[in-house]
Amino acid sequence: MSSELICFNPACRSRYAITDVLYNCPRCGGLLEADFDRAGIDAAALKSLWRSRRTLNSKLDQSGVWRYRELIPFLDDTSCVVSLREGNTPLLDGPRAASYAGVDRIVFKHQGFNPTGSFKDNGMTCGASQAVRLGMRRVACVSTGNTSASMAAYASAAGLQPIIFIPHGNISYGKLAQALEYGARTFQVEANFDQILALVRVLAERLGIYLLNSINPFRIEGQKSIIFEMMDQRDWNPPDWIVLPGGNLGNTSAFGKALRELHSLGFINRMPRLAVIQASGASPFFELWQAADHTRLSAVGHPETLATAIKIGDPVSWPKALHEVERTRGTVEKVTEQEIADAKAQIGRCGIGCEPASAATLAGVCKLRAAGVIAPDADIVAVLTGNVLKDPDYIYRYHTKQLDAPDGTRLNSTFANQPVVVANDPDRIATLLED
Ligand code: F0G
Repeated sequence: MSSELICFNPACRSRYAITDVLYNCPRCGGLLEADFDRAGIDAAALKSLWRSRRTLNSKLDQSGVWRYRELIPFLDDTSCVVSLREGNTPLLDGPRAASYAGVDRIVFKHQGFNPTGSFKDNGMTCGASQAVRLGMRRVACVSTGNTSASMAAYASAAGLQPIIFIPHGNISYGKLAQALEYGARTFQVEANFDQILALVRVLAERLGIYLLNSINPFRIEGQKSIIFEMMDQRDWNPPDWIVLPGGNLGNTSAFGKALRELHSLGFINRMPRLAVIQASGASPFFELWQAADHTRLSAVGHPETLATAIKIGDPVSWPKALHEVERTRGTVEKVTEQEIADAKAQIGRCGIGCEPASAATLAGVCKLRAAGVIAPDADIVAVLTGNVLKDPDYIYRYHTKQLDAPDGTRLNSTFANQPVVVANDPDRIATLLED
């Protein structure tokens, strides 16, 4: 075999052809993942090959996903690859954020530098390429905004029709605007993310539309590259902690799979620990983690958070994510709206910036440091999942002291930076600047 689909359920492990259009195991209903033949993989040789590709100009080598194609080998013919030169996202030092959290150092891997401004592009290049390979004409997803922006771009770039479903009134305008501009047929449904996912699965089946939510195993394959690139940038020295926000839990699943593969193939000599951070109003995975036995996730019926990207109550990938957090001896934490808002302003003051869901990482580091889980001298990489311009409305409200939590309470704009309205008067402005 080269690549196959395999059921993630340890009691099943059924195998299917890589070209079967499946999102769950037909035998047991479990999640599926792509598996590949590891014979002949030489870590040292690949490390230097991947490094050398950074200087090349071909589409595959310029992509921060396909550069690592030997560990994402599900295509037998790369002519169907759809790439917008995704990945290639930087590691950025955030000294101010580190002192805010009470740690010596924190480094951000900023996925907001992607072509559509979020980490979704790392996975979407793979999902869209598989759609092309399968001869699909239409692709669909439900989204809190970033998946739909990314899918719209990649589908249009590939000449496929993107069809997106979003919870009406619950995604930021920046993200909705992207989907419209990239030409997606857009349905604003009066239901929440979890309800719409069920709807889209029915429609995809009935109309033969290819589903590109993170239940699609090829999206997860692509998102592994965030870890591959992070380790490459760190000369294969794993950090102590990798901190990320958790919503539908596809990214947690991808990070864990990538780490397992890198470790078992000898690319890294130890496993970093994954810390998954949820918003307290949408934290079913945190509740599962707290439960005495980690057997079944109880969905949150009405998830609430201003971090709309992670406003999800029934995350589909929880069995994978749970396995990965356990495998890395990681942890799951939840943070309040106030903690997210203030952490976000601190990331902004580093000159870095991110969208609200991404700031859950720094808020989580603060909390885990205070609880003694993360040591002050720990080597920490926090993954900022989306660009600062994804949700300007949130930013404006925070800095003008008008940001209300979902329950209507006004949040403190602790680090507000209010714009000043002023007359066209140099004397007046000079006086203000002297204060
Ligand atoms: N951060 C951002 C900016 C996101 O857009 C998402 C998910 C997450 C974190 C959580 O990642 O679902 O893999 O745990 N956004 C999805 C979407 C759900 O539709 O754009 P996850």
